[in-house]
Amino acid sequence: MTDMDKDIRIIDIGTEIPDTKVELCGITLDNPVIPASGTFGYGYEFAELYDINCLGTFSFKGTTLEPRFGNDTPRIAECPSGMLNSVGLQNPGVDAVITDELPKLRKVFNKPVMANVSGFSIEEYAEVTRRLSESGSSDMIGWFEINISCPNVHGGGMSFGTDPAMAGEVVKAVRKVTDKPIIIKLSPNVTDIVSIAKSCEAEGADGVSLINTLMGMRFDLKTRKPILANVTGGLSGPAVLPVALRMVYQVANAVEIPVIGMGGISSAEDVLEMMMAGATAVEIGAANLVNPYASRDIIKALPEVMAGYGISTLRE
Ligand SMILES: Cc1cc2nc3c(=O)[nH]c(=O)nc-3n(C[C@H](O)[C@H](O)[C@H](O)COP(=O)(O)O)c2cc1C
Repeated sequence: MTDMDKDIRIIDIGTEIPDTKVELCGITLDNPVIPASGTFGYGYEFAELYDINCLGTFSFKGTTLEPRFGNDTPRIAECPSGMLNSVGLQNPGVDAVITDELPKLRKVFNKPVMANVSGFSIEEYAEVTRRLSESGSSDMIGWFEINISCPNVHGGGMSFGTDPAMAGEVVKAVRKVTDKPIIIKLSPNVTDIVSIAKSCEAEGADGVSLINTLMGMRFDLKTRKPILANVTGGLSGPAVLPVALRMVYQVANAVEIPVIGMGGISSAEDVLEMMMAGATAVEIGAANLVNPYASRDIIKALPEVMAGYGISTLRE
């Protein structure tokens, strides 16, 4: 190879546009960036700000069988490098999601969406999934993300995500009512997240996503009482990134199914770090609440940041 050939080869690699595509349970995403459930509504609200078709996809608000008003206020508390929330799964209920929310989304989003399902019993998880699966909007749904990890509701939510056998039962029940990929959203509020991920995989989950929020609390020095009406809430934002990276790394090394990594991601660099930990795709939560354009800005920055680190394809 002459010196001139070497120069040409270097220039070729340098000008190649990095490939941000990833594959999630058989569906190709233009990029791995997915706004996380509870921080992006039902999508169309954000379509007023920018074209949300730039997203890999997004996970819609945690949906239950009945409408829920959520917990009493205050239900948000700021923290250094993060936030506590105790929203408590506020949503209009699955039937209204099918008749009102998804038709509005259809007008502005032409990619498969991730349907986030919450519940207070195994039957509820299965029934919400069944109704969405059999509805006229079913063609819009690419994946189900089953949230067995909400720390802000009593008698359900997180209790399914803290016991491997219970988590497996949820997977089994949901598996019976849909052929679409099932992603189980795991709780970080456990001592051994790997055993729960493995149980979900053994019962037929197509993927896992993690982490949901970490349980925490804050006090108001003047009133001497907890700031949140619910007393405790879930911590998210940059403060939790190292915990999320550690858990994604442990789970990705223990299961064969894809892992969606989330927790504290707020930049394209964080996306790459999460993928190095073993994530196939990533979700962005609290960052969307700080800056509603955060997910779009991260997607825009990703190719250049990849190029800067010599990464030509995310699949690698
Ligand atoms: C205000 C708020 C509401 C949330 N609601 C849901 C929800 O309905 N369903 C769910 O699975 N996760 C919910 N989450 C958890 C996020 O999807 C995500 O797992 C968590 O916030 C960690 O990511 P982050 O640090 O990027 O925010 C919520 C988070 C926040 C901050």
